[in-house]
Amino acid sequence: MKLDKVFKNNEAWIKDKLSTDNNYFEELGKGQSPELLYIGCSDSRVTAEDLMGLGPGEVFVHRNIANMVISIDLNVMSVVNYAVDHLKVNHVVVCGHYACGGVKAAMQSADLGILNPWLRNIRDVYRIHRDELDAIADEDKRYDRLVELNVQEQCVNLIKTATVQKAARDRNLKVHGWVFDVHTGRLIDLKIDFEGILKNIMEIYHLD
Ligand code: CO
Repeated sequence: MKLDKVFKNNEAWIKDKLSTDNNYFEELGKGQSPELLYIGCSDSRVTAEDLMGLGPGEVFVHRNIANMVISIDLNVMSVVNYAVDHLKVNHVVVCGHYACGGVKAAMQSADLGILNPWLRNIRDVYRIHRDELDAIADEDKRYDRLVELNVQEQCVNLIKTATVQKAARDRNLKVHGWVFDVHTGRLIDLKIDFEGILKNIMEIYHLD
């Protein structure tokens, strides 16, 4: 890819935006009040705003390998804190995707260096749901299910934070688990039982 193409694309994008709204960038410059925090995978095929049909200003985005929410990751925890406490988003979404290289790599018997401690959190998801996963004979289907269960467990990790517990109590913040199917383009709502998980989690992880 020639990188000058990117700048040409950018010029075309500016023209396109201004053709429908002359004040587009003036408005954009005034600030942001997104309603949604999206935590997704860094995979180049899973393009946050694009797949949701949303534009600048509409979604606060954090992406990392395999859409993980790890309590000692200052990066994701800062994003959650800022989006929930300061931007006052109403919804937090963890969006995984089928054919996730991170999830697949996590289950391989290979030393992946700095990725080992990161991906070990996915092995923990496998361990928690081992009975269900081991019962799935088809390997692809087992990975698909692990992707879904990983999303669910990262939602649980969000609910363990004081930030999310407070916002759920004070202003009805909701946490959602979604999966993007790279084979069809479809976004799937896993319909995680937020209220049920919250109630269950609070019995042990109640912080506020
Ligand atoms: Co991925």
